[in-house]
Amino acid sequence: MGWWSFSLVLGVVCWVCSVGSVGGIGANWGTQTSHPLSPSIVVQMLKDNGFQKVKLFDAEDGTLSALRKTGIEVMVGIPNDMLATLASDMSAAEKWVSKNVSGHVSDGVNIRYVAVGNEPFLQTYNGSFLQTTFPALQNIQGALIKAGLSNQVKVTVPLNADVYQSPDGKPSTGDFRDDIRQLMLSIVKFLSDNAAPFTVNIYPFISLYSDSSFPVDYAFFEGTSSGVVDGNVTYSNMFDANHDTLIWALQKNGFGNLPVIIGEIGWPTDGDMNANNQFAQRFNQGFMDHISTGQGTPLRPGPVDAYLFSLIDEDEKSIQPGNFERHWGIFTYDGLPKYQLNLRTTNSGALVRAKNVKYLSKQWCVLKPTASLDDPNMAPSVSYACANGDCTSLGYKTSCSDLDVRGNISYAFNSYYQKNDQEDAACGFQGLATITNKDPSTTTCRFGIMIDSDSSASQNLAHFQLSALQFVLAVFFPLVLTWL
Ligand SMILES: *[C@@H]1O[C@H](CO)[C@@H](O)[C@H](O)[C@H]1NC(C)=O
Ligand SMILES: *[C@@H]1O[C@H](CO)[C@@H](O)[C@H](O)[C@H]1NC(C)=O
Ligand SMILES: *[C@@H]1O[C@H](CO)[C@@H](O)[C@H](O)[C@H]1NC(C)=O
Ligand SMILES: *[C@@H]1O[C@H](CO)[C@@H](O)[C@H](O)[C@H]1NC(C)=O
Repeated sequence: MGWWSFSLVLGVVCWVCSVGSVGGIGANWGTQTSHPLSPSIVVQMLKDNGFQKVKLFDAEDGTLSALRKTGIEVMVGIPNDMLATLASDMSAAEKWVSKNVSGHVSDGVNIRYVAVGNEPFLQTYNGSFLQTTFPALQNIQGALIKAGLSNQVKVTVPLNADVYQSPDGKPSTGDFRDDIRQLMLSIVKFLSDNAAPFTVNIYPFISLYSDSSFPVDYAFFEGTSSGVVDGNVTYSNMFDANHDTLIWALQKNGFGNLPVIIGEIGWPTDGDMNANNQFAQRFNQGFMDHISTGQGTPLRPGPVDAYLFSLIDEDEKSIQPGNFERHWGIFTYDGLPKYQLNLRTTNSGALVRAKNVKYLSKQWCVLKPTASLDDPNMAPSVSYACANGDCTSLGYKTSCSDLDVRGNISYAFNSYYQKNDQEDAACGFQGLATITNKDPSTTTCRFGIMIDSDSSASQNLAHFQLSALQFVLAVFFPLVLTWL
């Protein structure tokens, strides 16, 4: 073998070793934000950071257009509130596929999966989607077949890991949850019949959050003294154990070879005592290192197909599950890396920040230094600011827990002010607030400046108003003349 073919082989081997597991790592791209980064900026971030796959929660035109001809594999999503319609009406499913899949595929968007619903069987939904998820899945599959796309685009249902369980915590005793067992078996059989994958979201953070006796080390990947011994296998991290509980459940019911996708995995950085950059770094890096070995889990050796949750923070996510919900991003709301993370997708091994982000002015809204804390308007003003802004970084062991009372109030006022595009009226608070050019941020607590995401939208609006006026003039002015 000549030196050049040797270097070629070496090059390929090193490309494989640097890129890690086959298929690479994906990212969840959620858009529940008051001021989203533009789709083109996010797509550039995906490329710069070597993400080969992206998972969406809907099928917005702007998002999909930005993904055109990038080669990035896309999982488009159907929100739960559309399941009932798609379940009962085949033509609605056909329209959905035609508009949200076929059109984009012919425009060069690499759509590979349709996620039908998002964790529809979560116990907090009280069974609202139990009747509609499977029929919607069937109708979407039928529509994909009719559109001639069923070979390249697969259906799946991203499910919460609580659809299966194990009575004694051992993977080998795992099976689907009793109350939905038959439904799960029907869905699994349907996926299997259509060569489609099972998608599951796995969250060791939630286990730690909801059970204070959960052994912290077991959530991570560095080994633990409280591992789970299951026959001849010892599980030293929750991810492997949880994943293999699913594999046991599938195996027991005759579907041991069904492909599995990890639809969401990650760790939040704020809003709870266990949600911080250090733990998030430890978890996400541990996970990336774990899957990059290609060893898989004890029951499923080989590459792991996974999507990190999440790419960017979302300031409008519901905080009903907890204040951490708005802080899952490996990037901040404006596309800054939160911590060092080597995804093994780029040569530098560092996260690459968003480019060309436009911000509002460098100014903040804070509590007036002369304002009295005893002012009767103080409490209602703070409540109002927090209810309409975002105070999830305030509180015990959060990024802003070092602020004093006045700092807390300033944080709340600024959050509301920024969310309202720095309008003067949003820094009133009965005269308790004032605007400053001096950044009130501390080492850990960031007083943000909002993204200027409306500039293009308002230009469009101005443009629309102008053309509407022209339209009115063009159509009605001659009529007026005629009437005269
Ligand atoms: C396509 O997807 C979007 C975004 O989820 C949704 O609002 C729209 O109703 C869908 N179109 C059809 C025809 O179902
Ligand atoms: C589920 O039921 C509980 C108790 O009846 C109720 O408080 C909650 O709002 C319901 N959730 C949904 C999503 O319907
Ligand atoms: C565990 O034991 C079973 C037989 O009891 C065997 O098939 C399997 O390969 C073993 N697994 C490992 C990881 O050694
Ligand atoms: C700041 O606000 C948080 C959340 O409302 C509260 O838990 C904390 O006690 C406050 N800190 C001070 C010093 O008032």
